[in-house]
Amino acid sequence: MDYNFKIDVDITKAETLPASFYRDPEIFEALKQDVFYKTWQWIGHENSVASAQRTHPFILLDGFLTEPMLLTKETSEKIHCLTNVCTHRGNLVVDKSGRNKKLICGYHGRRFGLDGSFEHMPEFKEAIEFPRPCDDLHRFPLRKWGPFLLPDLILLLIFRS
Ligand code: FES
Repeated sequence: MDYNFKIDVDITKAETLPASFYRDPEIFEALKQDVFYKTWQWIGHENSVASAQRTHPFILLDGFLTEPMLLTKETSEKIHCLTNVCTHRGNLVVDKSGRNKKLICGYHGRRFGLDGSFEHMPEFKEAIEFPRPCDDLHRFPLRKWGPFLLPDLILLLIFRS
């Protein structure tokens, strides 16, 4: 996107951004793509999945990115950040925080491991070339900074396209 303003790398030449920057819906959308989807976003404290087999659904930046995501704790150490959108028909897989050994979609029963890997789908025994890697729940790289959790969203751009 071409912006009609310039940001000088020399801070001594800095100027206030024009008001249009804050009002333009195209710039607003471009900021999502060019800034928020390409950076690590803080999503919370590791205690939101304090013990093994805990699951914690949340909406990433609700009203802005509005991305349904899910934290799972597979073991006492391993935390995963997954999409909470079922790979079958897009239903939310987990609707409330709790303790789960497996992730089971309430719509048609597709089952995933706590790492997002596809495990089972009722009535799909005859399906050809099934399952495939795209049937897994997408897993985002997750970093910890102290107790804080930060997923890398860059893959979300690819995942959504
Ligand atoms: S939408 Fe999840 S199993 Fe169908």
